[in-house]
Amino acid sequence: MSSVLIVGGTAGIGLEIARHYAERGHRVTLTGRDADRAAAAATEVGGDTTGLALDLAAPREIAAALAGLGAVDGLVLAAIERDVNSVADYDIDRAVRLVTLKLVGYTEVVHALRSRLAPDGAIVLFGGLALQRPYPGSITVSTVNGGVIGLMHAMIVELAPIRVNVIHPGFVADSPYWRDRDLSHAVARTPCGRLAQMADIVDAVAFLLGNPAINGVSLSVDGGILLG
Ligand SMILES: NC(=O)c1ccc[n+]([C@@H]2O[C@H](COP(=O)([O-])OP(=O)(O)OC[C@H]3O[C@@H](n4cnc5c(N)ncnc54)[C@H](OP(=O)(O)O)[C@@H]3O)[C@@H](O)[C@H]2O)c1
Repeated sequence: MSSVLIVGGTAGIGLEIARHYAERGHRVTLTGRDADRAAAAATEVGGDTTGLALDLAAPREIAAALAGLGAVDGLVLAAIERDVNSVADYDIDRAVRLVTLKLVGYTEVVHALRSRLAPDGAIVLFGGLALQRPYPGSITVSTVNGGVIGLMHAMIVELAPIRVNVIHPGFVADSPYWRDRDLSHAVARTPCGRLAQMADIVDAVAFLLGNPAINGVSLSVDGGILLG
């Protein structure tokens, strides 16, 4: 990968993916909603890394935000906003926001970049365990985590030969969202006895992006928790 774009690269797993590629000499662009925060994250990552601001929840502004970017051969769409919603107490505005961010926003990034994506390049979309293991409040998260699989299938057909894959992390124990919370209940249910770490997710993303035969894979990285 000579040029990698990580949407949602200012924090958490996206930031670790940026570090991975920067340390190996790749040209990296990472994004968040705020230009200063993105620039600071890029400086922290070091190497040939640039920060860029774009808001996936404002999809009509994405093309302009990406206008200055050159060719991309690795695209990681990792951004998320935390959400709590349920059928019983359905907040339509919250639902529309997350669906826009994750499904319309992710798609618009690819649309805006389509002439700059290398034919031998690859895209990784982030879903998550809530697709198959919903929890109270996950109605929209579970929905969009399934939606990215449909997006992957359609993009593979439309963008061929560009490869597209999805990763579904389980509880990522050392990610900022979870690292100070008690996850012993999840460890107890996980057959291999440990939860995924951010390094495990980065390793899986590098595999999905880099292996030229991997296309259309929806990969769970969760220690097998659904079998526990
Ligand atoms: N952590 C886990 O255990 C876990 C489990 C299952 C799935 N996942 C999935 O893994 C991915 C990464 O999760 P994470 O925990 O590392 O996330 P995180 O630490 O919360 O980071 C989220 C990233 O998304 C960006 N972002 C938020 N809202 C945005 C918006 N409207 N437009 C553009 N960018 C936006 C944030 O940037 P700014 O704040 O700088 O704008 C940040 O870079 C997500 O897709 C998540 O659903 C994570």
